[in-house]
Amino acid sequence: MTISHDPADGKRLVVLISGRGSNLNALIQACADGRIHGRIVQVISNRPQALGLDFARRAGIPCSVVDHRAYPDREAFDRALADRIEASRPDLVILAGFMRILTEPFVARFAGRMVNIHPSLLPDFPGLDTHARALAAGADTHGTSVHFVTAELDGGPILMQARVPVHADDDPGTLAQRVQAAEHQLYPAAVGLICAGRVHATGGTLEFDGSRLEQPLLLSDIIEAR
Ligand code: GRF
Repeated sequence: MTISHDPADGKRLVVLISGRGSNLNALIQACADGRIHGRIVQVISNRPQALGLDFARRAGIPCSVVDHRAYPDREAFDRALADRIEASRPDLVILAGFMRILTEPFVARFAGRMVNIHPSLLPDFPGLDTHARALAAGADTHGTSVHFVTAELDGGPILMQARVPVHADDDPGTLAQRVQAAEHQLYPAAVGLICAGRVHATGGTLEFDGSRLEQPLLLSDIIEAR
């Protein structure tokens, strides 16, 4: 399938989801109101029932399912997924709650042009159950990170983070809600910078506005600088 593209629409974005899709929805809004100079050209889910597909359908964005259960192994699934992504000729691949561990060949195919959002202040708490683990560790600050994807799980170079306070009466659910509200600001802001050509990822390091990024940007700084 070939999708025609007017350069005036900005970067071509493909978003991968597995579930609710609230981050996808935040990205759709940001493309619509111009915070992101880009266009979501395809949404792909590995789960046929993912609720987030409805956000794509309502916005008129082509969406499809590559169901991991239909493939004999992780490599075969990743090959099919990569082929589906490449058919849309993306400038950037955006993982938004995509709950699959990706193989090295897949990651290599999209090196420097694939980002993920993770619900912790990486490198703290990679992996699952981040909110419960932050509470168990007695953290007083928690948050969320946007990073480029490398073969190391949640380990690629971090572009931007948003911090949230941990309250004394928080449980994993209340903390998750606060983090997700921050994610809905953070992901559009980070993707907006990438689509504006201000970020370059090369060999495990990031450049921002032409200089090496020594530490992650903070969402609060970017919002103040606007
Ligand atoms: C987000 O919290 C994100 O950090 C994590 O998965 C969750 C996805 O939520 N990777 P949604 O599907 O975007 O609502």
